This record gives sequence, C-alpha cells and structure tokens, in this order.
Amino acid sequence: MPSVAVIGSQWGDEGKGKITDYLAEAADVVVRYQGGNNAGHTVMVGDQIFKLHLIPSGAIHPNKDCVIGNGVVVDPLVLVDEIDGLAARGIERLRLHISERAHVILSYHKLQDELEESQRGADKIGTTGRGIGPAYTDKVARCGIRMVDLVEPKLFRQRLAAVLPAKNRLLRSLYGHPGIEMDEILETYGPVGQRLREYVKDTSEFVTAALKAGRRVLFEGAQGTMLDVDHGTYPYVTSSNPTAGGIAAGAGVSPRAIDRILGVAKAYTTRVGTGPFPTELHDAIGDRIRERGKEYGTTTGRPRRCGWFDAVVVRYAARVNGLTDLALMSVDTLGGFDEVKVCVAYNYRGQRLESFPARQDVLEECEPIYESFAGWPEDLSAVRDWDGLPAEAKAYVEGIERAVGVPVAAVSIGRAREATILRRPLF
Ligand code: IMO
Ligand code: MG
Repeated sequence: MPSVAVIGSQWGDEGKGKITDYLAEAADVVVRYQGGNNAGHTVMVGDQIFKLHLIPSGAIHPNKDCVIGNGVVVDPLVLVDEIDGLAARGIERLRLHISERAHVILSYHKLQDELEESQRGADKIGTTGRGIGPAYTDKVARCGIRMVDLVEPKLFRQRLAAVLPAKNRLLRSLYGHPGIEMDEILETYGPVGQRLREYVKDTSEFVTAALKAGRRVLFEGAQGTMLDVDHGTYPYVTSSNPTAGGIAAGAGVSPRAIDRILGVAKAYTTRVGTGPFPTELHDAIGDRIRERGKEYGTTTGRPRRCGWFDAVVVRYAARVNGLTDLALMSVDTLGGFDEVKVCVAYNYRGQRLESFPARQDVLEECEPIYESFAGWPEDLSAVRDWDGLPAEAKAYVEGIERAVGVPVAAVSIGRAREATILRRPLF
C-alpha cells in the first residue's frame, strides 16, 4: 500500500500544490480529504501557471484519478468552473471522483460567512469568504446538504425544504437580511448538480480498492497544521482538520493506510488573515521576503504576513502529524540576505518554551530565540541538485533539519517542476 500524505506544516500556502504535482508524476490517485475552495494550490508547468482550488493538484498530469473525499466541502459552482477552465486549457477527460457524502457549499453559506465576519468587527478571523466555516457548521449541526442530495432533484428539494426555513429565520433575525428563496437556489444549483452527477460515487470504496491493488495514492492536504481546528491557533483557524489525523475521516480510509507523511514548509513563514504569528517581521526584511516570494494570496490576492522560519511551529507539526519527511520550499526566496534566521524556541517572561503554547495571551508575549546562519547568493536558478547548492544554503537546510528533528527529503528552489531537489525517494 504505497501512499504518501502531503501536509501543510505552517499556516497554509507552503507550496503543497507544487509538491503534489511533482509527486503526482509517480502516483496513480490524488485525494483531497478536507477544506474546500479556500485552498489555492499553484502548479507551474513550463511557462503555464495553474491555480487549483478544489480539484486535486494531480489533475495536470494525464490519466491520474483525482478524488474529492467526503471531508471536503464542495462549492459546485466553483467546481464546474474549474472543470471548464482546465478543459479550455486542454486538460479534458478528467478522471474525477467526488464523494457522495461530501457536503455542499450553497449561496447562503457564502452570505453567512460574510455577515459573520462583519459582525466580528475587530476580532475578525480574516476568512477567505468562501462559505467554508458555515458549511462545516451545518455538517456538524446535522443540517447540511450532501452531494448525494444535490444530484437527485427530489432529494435536493426535500433537504432544502427541511433546512431553509431555519436558515432564513437566522438571516432575518440576526442580520436583518431578507432571506433566500428556495426557487432561486434550485435554479442556480439544480443544473450544476446534474452536470456533476457522473462523478459522484462512494470514494472511500474507490480509494480503499486502489490501496489494496497496490496503486500509489497521494493524499493532498489543504491549509496547514496551524490552521487546524483542533491543533491550530484557535479561533484563528479554518473549520476542518488539515492534519494527518483528518485523512482517515475525510477520505474514508483506515488510519493504517498512510505510509509516509511529508510535511511541507517554506524556508520562512507566512500567514494570511489574523491571529498570532511569533516570528512575523514588520520591517524591510519582511517586505523583501514578500516581494521576492510573490507572497500574495492565490485565492484572495491579500498580501501575506512574512517572517523567519519558526522551528517551534514545524516541530509541533512534526509531532501532531507524525511527519516522516519534510519538503522545504522557496529556499531561493531567501537568497541575497547577509544573514538568515531560524527561531528555535520562544522566550516567555524569561522562560524558554520549546513547545507551541495554546494560550493566545502567552503567544502574544513570546519572543523568538533565533539561531543565525550565513546567507547565500541571490540567484539559484541554475542549481538542479543538492551538490550544486551553495554551502551556506546547505547549512541552512541542515540547521532546519536539526531544529525540527525530521529529515528534509525535498528542497524547492523555484516554481518550476525542475527546480526541485529530491534527497530521498518518497514513493
Ligand atoms: P492553502 O491550501 C492560507 C485561512 C484564512 C483565514 C482562516 C479561516 O492554499 O494553503 P476560512 O475561509 O478557511 O474559514 O478562513 O484560514 N486560510 C488559508 N490560509 N492558505 C490556505 O489554503 C487557507 N485556507 C484558509 O486566511 O485566516
Ligand atoms: Mg492559499
């Protein structure tokens, strides 16, 4: 059962799309198991850039089975657009499999996301506004609508009739919104349900059979460990479990089905949205990382907050995910600095913290304790293997390996597939 999980080890945007695409070459099946179109996974092939939100990043390779598991929340309008967008660029006949148990994001979830954020005022989370939180809330509150309902007109109407009155009461009484007409939802979503019908099935059965047959399966996480609803910087998190523990529940496979767990981390740290970020830089260094790394959101276009690599965060990710390997991304972005730093622990009121604290007030007072490394030249574009890297860059990667305690299996030095150095095989 050769299977590899690709997991975000920071606050998302680590380069999971690039690594998934890279590994997908050798894989047969690529599975998304949580999140929705809050994800923005960028894949660069030649001079073409693909930005995927829902469809697994394996789709760019021909003949890969792409699975959207039950743990994903699916905006069917976005999914149809994504299918059409890929087709327009020559990627047709997708082998797409959508779980019949996946929950659907409808117009009222997006509306609710916006309204809830506006009411949070200064405490806002900075969500992507895609209706993710409200759709997961409805799933847990047992008033969600699943793909299996969406594609069956009679069931869709019945489920809507059961849940819409309460939703409208909430919209009216809490937000003074006039509410949403059932016919409007049926007209918008009925036809897309029919278009997606052919892809909807029991994906747990499909993935389990693939694993049994010895096919290579890649689980593609969205978001990251620090955005996990259980393990992240709550409440500034997303509403799902991006951590490895989410795979079994979100794909309908055994927890024993995963062989390797690859944590993806940038050579520095970024975060979009609000919430604690101990190594954030509010200076010219942070600006330089943002500009060189093109650190602007794939999904919302927002500038990302930037800071030094935080080994406390990634060590924590290594623990809660059981990481077997690390992929260190965007090492090229740090080129041209005289000195680069890695946070190895926090100083909290004179006390050295090695582990990531749960309390926000403690986090806010934590000062990073840095280990310093010599910088390396700006341009790594000619480098294609480990031996070709400048000695200083190698020392930096090895320093991170030591501080996190997990071997760095892959190093990325650019957006292209070729700009990936594999130090140990993953499949
Ligand atoms: P990928 O897969 C970075 C952040 C949002 C916000 C919080 C909650 O590209 O790494 P949500 O819309 O999920 O309710 O927002 O989570 N967030 C991400 N940040 N990358 C992502 O995905 C994200 N998905 C959600 O900015 O702070
Ligand atoms: Mg993103």
